[in-house]
Amino acid sequence: MKNIEFDHLIEEVKEEVIRWRRHLHENPELSFQEVKTSQYIYETLQSFDNLEVSRPTKTSVMARLIGTRPGKVLAIRADIDALPIQEENRVSYASKNPGVMHACGHDGHTAILLGSAKILSSLQQRIEGEVRFLFQHAEELAPGGAQEMVGAGVMKDVDLVIGTHLWSPLETGKIGLAAGPVMASPDTFSMTITGQGGHAGLPHQTIDTIATSAQVVTNLQHIVSRTVDPLENVVLSITKFTGGTALNIIPDTVEIAGTVRLLNAELRSEIQEAMERVIKGITEAHGATYRFTYEAASDPVVNEPKVTEVVEDTVFELFGEDAVVRVRPNMGGEDFSAFLNEAPGTYFFTGSGNRKLETDYPHHHPRFNIDESALEIGMKMFVRATFKLLA
Ligand code: NI
Repeated sequence: MKNIEFDHLIEEVKEEVIRWRRHLHENPELSFQEVKTSQYIYETLQSFDNLEVSRPTKTSVMARLIGTRPGKVLAIRADIDALPIQEENRVSYASKNPGVMHACGHDGHTAILLGSAKILSSLQQRIEGEVRFLFQHAEELAPGGAQEMVGAGVMKDVDLVIGTHLWSPLETGKIGLAAGPVMASPDTFSMTITGQGGHAGLPHQTIDTIATSAQVVTNLQHIVSRTVDPLENVVLSITKFTGGTALNIIPDTVEIAGTVRLLNAELRSEIQEAMERVIKGITEAHGATYRFTYEAASDPVVNEPKVTEVVEDTVFELFGEDAVVRVRPNMGGEDFSAFLNEAPGTYFFTGSGNRKLETDYPHHHPRFNIDESALEIGMKMFVRATFKLLA
């Protein structure tokens, strides 16, 4: 199928896709609360031909486009939720929901996938196999909506899965690809260290939780530098350290929490065990006790090389070699991995940064915005890649 045929179809839906995106941007909803958002998606999909639309969970939506000939099943996913941020953009379509904002581009992801569904559903006669459009709730909040959707059976019989993230650090027109690990597992942990509080002038009568906890923090840093294979990529950050109420009191307890980021899920148990060993050893040595919890989050996003190659060929054909940027993995988290655990696939980045339009603010910033011409690029990628992947 030639580009020109798609270009015509994309031209037809382009304006509508921008309208959908702006409607979603004006009406953002937080993770697991996407009631109006999912209703809007559901109704929009219902207005297209040839789709079987359903609600796998309370706030997610799935649409199945079954082709006229048998073949593979391709799932394409978009996340739909917003963030607890007060928008600072002065645009006509700014958030009408105080304190809630589409500050990560998921409004754009939703619009891109709706536009792709509209185009592909009009080409049903030429589809071999099935395209399954997954509109996923709650990407931004652990435990995430992806696993819930998988649990509801959306990946049953799926052979391949793709998804994209609009990416402000990447210039509009560029597509970021990586074969292998591309995003991390955003695990979290917390601990309470308990000693015996008392007078700061009489430390020998106390079990000093502050001094002990400081040792725990320092020694946890040895795990990444001394225990883990240096060729692996791991982050262990303490992000919370709370204890004490006054200048002359040694507190009873200290609370510590943070995050572990991994690109290789197999290291998870090793790190968790090493952490517990350190915490146990240090607290015991100083007569304190501890309570430690480690919460495994979504797995790292690991792209399958062959599917990534097909997507890379898609970029070449559509936009030329210069459009491809081979991205390094980043240590942010993304629950797209739940779908990748069910079928091979790839997660790529669609550049939406444009200095002139001021759309190069970082994700999750109150002035984050997207270059809307990236919506068209995203649609071209999904439509073209669908035919290549189902071929
Ligand atoms: Ni995001």
